[in-house]
Amino acid sequence: MKKIIEHPLVQRDVTQLRNKNTNSEDFRRLAKRASIIAGVEVLSGLEICREDVVTPLGPFPGIKISKPFPYFVSIMRAGSIMTDALHNLYPEASIGHIGLSRNHDTLEPSQYYLNLADDLSELMVVICDPMLATAGSAIHSINLLKQKHASNIIFFSLLASKYGVERLSEAHPDIKIFTCAMDEELNDHGYILPGLGDAGDRLFNT
Ligand code: PRP
Ligand code: URA
Repeated sequence: MKKIIEHPLVQRDVTQLRNKNTNSEDFRRLAKRASIIAGVEVLSGLEICREDVVTPLGPFPGIKISKPFPYFVSIMRAGSIMTDALHNLYPEASIGHIGLSRNHDTLEPSQYYLNLADDLSELMVVICDPMLATAGSAIHSINLLKQKHASNIIFFSLLASKYGVERLSEAHPDIKIFTCAMDEELNDHGYILPGLGDAGDRLFNT
């Protein structure tokens, strides 16, 4: 399943993320705001059960979130701005981290850090990475999560390439992909075109 989040407020922010004149401070602010707005849609599949409360004027049959609870995964470096955003929406969630950096020549992900819960079988796992380009990083991450028994997995990006979405869907047809935009092309260095450049560098001013 693939969903592009068309909300005008998200599309407005993604346009300014693409703008080469957006500075790093604004880039972080926009990436976080777009992730919060889009995150509402990403988390719309959460299950609920009844929770009765009493207002100052009487009883009310309300709801609370029930299992499977969400678990957020940040693909470092750039994913942290998105897990921060989702944490605003669901502060009780635990956050796992996968440190990956793409080899400039082979475009294969190289792993430098891993911190995941041992058993993800009962959780709704939301992987956050602003960029889905060749899908190498996403596929590697999902392989790791499945080794930890994750079976309910969402991949959430701000920008994807058409190739990346197709490759990811082929490698892991069971996952749901949410993205805010999908561009047609990748260049010879694996960058999304027209894209937004290097998300990590723009976020961290490197
Ligand atoms: C970027 C991005 C993804 C990856 C996407 O990270 O945040 O993790 O590239 O590319 P792919 O779909 O072709 O694998 P990068 O490796 O540049 O690391 P960074 O977040 O530390 O900048
Ligand atoms: N990583 C990025 O940060 N940007 C791209 O366009 C592709 C991978």
